[in-house]
Amino acid sequence: MTKRWLAEHKQEKYYRLAKKLDYRSRASFKLIQIDDRFGIFEEGDSVVDLGASPGGWLQVAKERVGGGKVIGVDLRPIRPIDGVITILGDITDKGTMNELLERFGGKADVVLSDMAPNVGGHYSTDHARSVHLCSYAVNVADHVLKKNGKMVVKVFMGDMFPDVKDSLDIRFRSVKVHSPDATRSTSSEVYVIAKGFRGHRPEDADDDKREIKTAEFTVKGDLE
Ligand SMILES: C[S@@+](CC[C@H](N)C(=O)[O-])C[C@H]1O[C@@H](n2cnc3c(N)ncnc32)[C@H](O)[C@@H]1O
Repeated sequence: MTKRWLAEHKQEKYYRLAKKLDYRSRASFKLIQIDDRFGIFEEGDSVVDLGASPGGWLQVAKERVGGGKVIGVDLRPIRPIDGVITILGDITDKGTMNELLERFGGKADVVLSDMAPNVGGHYSTDHARSVHLCSYAVNVADHVLKKNGKMVVKVFMGDMFPDVKDSLDIRFRSVKVHSPDATRSTSSEVYVIAKGFRGHRPEDADDDKREIKTAEFTVKGDLE
Protein backbone atom coordinates (compact mmCIF):
# COMPACT_ATOMS: atom_id res chain seq x y z
CA MET A 1 0.00 0.00 0.00
CA THR A 2 1.53 3.28 -1.08
CA LYS A 3 1.21 6.56 0.81
CA ARG A 4 -0.91 7.89 -2.02
CA TRP A 5 -3.28 4.90 -1.85
CA LEU A 6 -3.69 5.41 1.90
CA ALA A 7 -4.40 9.13 1.45
CA GLU A 8 -6.99 8.47 -1.27
CA HIS A 9 -8.57 5.73 0.80
CA LYS A 10 -8.90 8.11 3.76
CA GLN A 11 -10.56 10.81 1.64
CA GLU A 12 -12.91 8.22 0.12
CA LYS A 13 -13.84 7.11 3.65
CA TYR A 14 -14.80 10.67 4.67
CA TYR A 15 -16.62 11.23 1.39
CA ARG A 16 -18.77 8.12 1.96
CA LEU A 17 -19.33 8.98 5.61
CA ALA A 18 -20.48 12.50 4.68
CA LYS A 19 -22.98 11.06 2.21
CA LYS A 20 -24.22 8.54 4.74
CA LEU A 21 -24.65 11.08 7.53
CA ASP A 22 -26.10 13.73 5.21
CA TYR A 23 -23.29 16.23 5.66
CA ARG A 24 -22.75 18.59 2.75
CA SER A 25 -18.99 18.26 2.74
CA ARG A 26 -16.17 16.11 4.01
CA ALA A 27 -15.02 19.27 5.78
CA SER A 28 -17.70 18.55 8.40
CA PHE A 29 -15.43 15.89 9.85
CA LYS A 30 -12.59 18.35 10.33
CA LEU A 31 -14.81 20.48 12.56
CA ILE A 32 -16.19 17.42 14.37
CA GLN A 33 -12.64 16.24 15.09
CA ILE A 34 -11.54 19.72 16.19
CA ASP A 35 -14.54 20.08 18.50
CA ASP A 36 -14.10 16.58 19.96
CA ARG A 37 -10.48 17.30 20.70
CA PHE A 38 -10.50 20.95 21.73
CA GLY A 39 -14.05 21.50 23.03
CA ILE A 40 -15.18 24.43 20.91
CA PHE A 41 -18.99 24.40 21.21
CA GLU A 42 -21.36 24.55 24.13
CA GLU A 43 -25.11 24.21 24.07
CA GLY A 44 -26.69 27.61 23.33
CA ASP A 45 -23.52 29.19 21.85
CA SER A 46 -23.76 31.83 19.12
CA VAL A 47 -21.55 31.06 16.13
CA VAL A 48 -20.29 33.01 13.11
CA ASP A 49 -18.94 30.83 10.27
CA LEU A 50 -16.92 32.51 7.50
CA GLY A 51 -16.47 30.71 4.19
CA ALA A 52 -19.44 28.52 5.03
CA SER A 53 -20.59 27.15 1.65
CA PRO A 54 -21.79 24.48 0.96
CA GLY A 55 -22.66 24.30 4.69
CA GLY A 56 -20.92 21.28 6.22
CA TRP A 57 -19.53 23.29 9.15
CA LEU A 58 -22.87 25.05 9.62
CA GLN A 59 -24.59 21.67 9.99
CA VAL A 60 -22.08 20.55 12.62
CA ALA A 61 -22.19 23.88 14.49
CA LYS A 62 -26.00 23.87 14.56
CA GLU A 63 -26.10 20.26 15.82
CA ARG A 64 -23.67 21.08 18.57
CA VAL A 65 -25.09 24.39 19.85
CA GLY A 66 -28.75 23.36 19.69
CA GLY A 67 -30.86 26.49 20.12
CA GLY A 68 -27.86 28.83 19.78
CA LYS A 69 -27.66 31.35 16.95
CA VAL A 70 -25.63 30.28 13.88
CA ILE A 71 -24.82 32.50 10.90
CA GLY A 72 -22.77 31.67 7.81
CA VAL A 73 -21.20 33.94 5.19
CA ASP A 74 -19.85 32.95 1.78
CA LEU A 75 -19.23 34.26 -1.71
CA ARG A 76 -21.16 31.25 -2.90
CA PRO A 77 -24.78 30.48 -2.12
CA ILE A 78 -25.62 28.16 0.76
CA ARG A 79 -28.76 26.04 0.51
CA PRO A 80 -31.02 26.79 3.50
CA ILE A 81 -30.36 24.92 6.76
CA ASP A 82 -33.03 24.88 9.46
CA GLY A 83 -32.38 27.53 12.10
CA VAL A 84 -29.28 28.94 10.37
CA ILE A 85 -28.95 32.46 8.89
CA THR A 86 -26.88 32.78 5.72
CA ILE A 87 -25.39 35.79 3.96
CA LEU A 88 -24.16 35.80 0.38
CA GLY A 89 -21.17 38.09 0.14
CA ASP A 90 -17.46 38.72 0.28
CA ILE A 91 -16.28 39.26 3.86
CA THR A 92 -13.54 41.58 2.59
CA ASP A 93 -16.32 43.97 1.45
CA LYS A 94 -17.43 46.55 4.00
CA GLY A 95 -21.07 46.01 2.97
CA THR A 96 -20.93 42.29 3.82
CA MET A 97 -19.24 43.02 7.13
CA ASN A 98 -21.98 45.54 8.00
CA GLU A 99 -24.72 43.10 6.96
CA LEU A 100 -23.13 40.46 9.19
CA LEU A 101 -23.02 42.81 12.19
CA GLU A 102 -26.60 43.90 11.58
CA ARG A 103 -28.14 40.47 11.01
CA PHE A 104 -26.16 38.72 13.70
CA GLY A 105 -26.98 41.43 16.22
CA GLY A 106 -25.00 40.79 19.39
CA LYS A 107 -21.86 38.96 20.34
CA ALA A 108 -20.60 35.52 19.33
CA ASP A 109 -19.15 32.77 21.50
CA VAL A 110 -17.32 31.27 18.53
CA VAL A 111 -15.94 32.60 15.23
CA LEU A 112 -15.05 29.97 12.63
CA SER A 113 -13.25 30.50 9.35
CA ASP A 114 -12.69 27.75 6.82
CA MET A 115 -12.22 30.39 4.11
CA ALA A 116 -9.90 29.41 1.31
CA PRO A 117 -8.82 31.40 -1.74
CA ASN A 118 -9.16 29.97 -5.23
CA VAL A 119 -5.92 28.09 -5.39
CA GLY A 120 -3.82 28.75 -8.44
CA GLY A 121 -1.11 26.22 -7.72
CA HIS A 122 1.49 28.91 -7.02
CA TYR A 123 2.40 28.05 -3.47
CA SER A 124 3.46 31.44 -2.12
CA THR A 125 0.57 33.31 -3.79
CA ASP A 126 -1.96 30.81 -2.41
CA HIS A 127 -0.36 31.21 1.02
CA ALA A 128 -0.49 35.02 0.81
CA ARG A 129 -4.16 34.93 -0.21
CA SER A 130 -5.00 32.59 2.64
CA VAL A 131 -3.20 34.87 5.13
CA HIS A 132 -5.10 37.83 3.67
CA LEU A 133 -8.43 36.05 4.35
CA CYS A 134 -7.25 35.23 7.87
CA SER A 135 -6.70 38.90 8.59
CA TYR A 136 -10.36 39.53 7.75
CA ALA A 137 -11.49 36.63 9.94
CA VAL A 138 -9.50 38.15 12.82
CA ASN A 139 -11.12 41.49 12.10
CA VAL A 140 -14.57 39.86 12.35
CA ALA A 141 -13.53 38.32 15.68
CA ASP A 142 -12.45 41.76 16.92
CA HIS A 143 -15.94 43.07 16.16
CA VAL A 144 -18.20 40.23 17.27
CA LEU A 145 -16.43 37.90 19.67
CA LYS A 146 -17.38 37.88 23.36
CA LYS A 147 -14.67 38.13 25.97
CA ASN A 148 -13.28 34.60 26.49
CA GLY A 149 -14.72 33.57 23.11
CA LYS A 150 -13.11 31.02 20.80
CA MET A 151 -11.90 31.06 17.23
CA VAL A 152 -11.00 28.34 14.73
CA VAL A 153 -9.31 29.58 11.58
CA LYS A 154 -7.82 27.79 8.60
CA VAL A 155 -4.58 28.98 7.07
CA PHE A 156 -2.26 27.61 4.41
CA MET A 157 1.19 27.18 5.90
CA GLY A 158 4.00 29.39 4.67
CA ASP A 159 6.50 32.04 5.66
CA MET A 160 3.87 34.52 6.89
CA PHE A 161 2.35 32.01 9.29
CA PRO A 162 4.23 33.46 12.31
CA ASP A 163 2.44 36.79 11.68
CA VAL A 164 -0.93 35.05 11.81
CA LYS A 165 0.09 33.25 14.99
CA ASP A 166 1.40 36.50 16.58
CA SER A 167 -1.81 38.25 15.75
CA LEU A 168 -3.80 35.55 17.54
CA ASP A 169 -1.36 35.34 20.46
CA ILE A 170 -2.01 39.02 21.15
CA ARG A 171 -5.75 38.48 21.30
CA PHE A 172 -6.18 35.04 22.87
CA ARG A 173 -4.88 33.34 26.01
CA SER A 174 -4.35 29.97 24.31
CA VAL A 175 -3.41 29.36 20.67
CA LYS A 176 -2.84 25.89 19.22
CA VAL A 177 -2.06 24.74 15.70
CA HIS A 178 -3.66 21.51 14.56
CA SER A 179 -4.17 19.35 11.50
CA PRO A 180 -7.23 17.11 11.83
CA ASP A 181 -7.19 13.56 10.48
CA ALA A 182 -9.85 14.50 7.93
CA THR A 183 -7.42 16.95 6.25
CA ARG A 184 -5.72 15.55 3.14
CA SER A 185 -2.19 14.47 3.95
CA THR A 186 -0.96 16.42 0.90
CA SER A 187 -2.63 19.66 2.03
CA SER A 188 -0.67 22.60 3.43
CA GLU A 189 -3.65 23.75 5.49
CA VAL A 190 -3.64 23.88 9.26
CA TYR A 191 -6.26 25.05 11.72
CA VAL A 192 -5.44 27.49 14.48
CA ILE A 193 -7.55 26.96 17.57
CA ALA A 194 -7.64 30.06 19.75
CA LYS A 195 -9.38 30.28 23.12
CA GLY A 196 -9.87 32.93 25.76
CA PHE A 197 -10.40 36.08 23.68
CA ARG A 198 -9.07 38.96 25.70
CA GLY A 199 -11.76 41.29 24.41
CA HIS A 200 -11.61 44.24 22.11
CA ARG A 201 -11.18 47.38 24.16
CA PRO A 202 -11.00 50.45 21.93
CA GLU A 203 -9.85 52.57 24.85
CA ASP A 204 -6.92 50.24 25.44
CA ALA A 205 -3.51 51.41 24.27
CA ASP A 206 -2.91 47.88 23.00
CA ASP A 207 -5.49 48.61 20.38
CA ASP A 208 -2.98 50.38 18.14
CA LYS A 209 -0.86 47.25 18.22
CA ARG A 210 -3.85 45.18 17.10
CA GLU A 211 -4.49 47.47 14.14
CA ILE A 212 -0.87 47.24 13.06
CA LYS A 213 -0.92 43.46 13.43
CA THR A 214 -4.00 43.18 11.25
CA ALA A 215 -2.46 45.43 8.62
CA GLU A 216 0.86 43.63 8.72
CA PHE A 217 -0.45 40.45 7.32
CA THR A 218 -2.97 42.00 5.00
CA VAL A 219 -1.08 41.41 1.81
CA LYS A 220 -2.18 43.74 -0.91
CA GLY A 221 -1.04 44.44 -4.41
CA ASP A 222 0.36 41.05 -5.37
CA LEU A 223 -2.88 39.22 -4.92
CA GLU A 224 -4.76 39.73 -8.15
C1 LIG B 1 -13.27 25.00 1.99
S1 LIG B 1 -14.66 25.93 1.55
C2 LIG B 1 -15.60 25.92 3.03
C3 LIG B 1 -16.29 24.62 3.30
C4 LIG B 1 -17.25 24.74 4.47
N1 LIG B 1 -16.55 24.95 5.73
C5 LIG B 1 -18.11 23.51 4.61
O1 LIG B 1 -17.94 22.77 5.58
O2 LIG B 1 -18.99 23.29 3.78
C6 LIG B 1 -14.00 27.56 1.53
C7 LIG B 1 -15.02 28.63 1.23
O3 LIG B 1 -14.45 29.91 1.46
C8 LIG B 1 -15.19 30.82 0.67
N2 LIG B 1 -14.53 32.14 0.59
C9 LIG B 1 -13.32 32.41 0.05
N3 LIG B 1 -13.07 33.74 0.11
C10 LIG B 1 -14.14 34.31 0.72
C11 LIG B 1 -14.48 35.66 1.04
N4 LIG B 1 -13.67 36.67 0.75
N5 LIG B 1 -15.66 35.90 1.66
C12 LIG B 1 -16.51 34.87 1.94
N6 LIG B 1 -16.25 33.58 1.64
C13 LIG B 1 -15.08 33.29 1.04
C14 LIG B 1 -15.27 30.09 -0.67
O4 LIG B 1 -16.29 30.61 -1.49
C15 LIG B 1 -15.51 28.64 -0.22
O5 LIG B 1 -16.87 28.30 -0.29
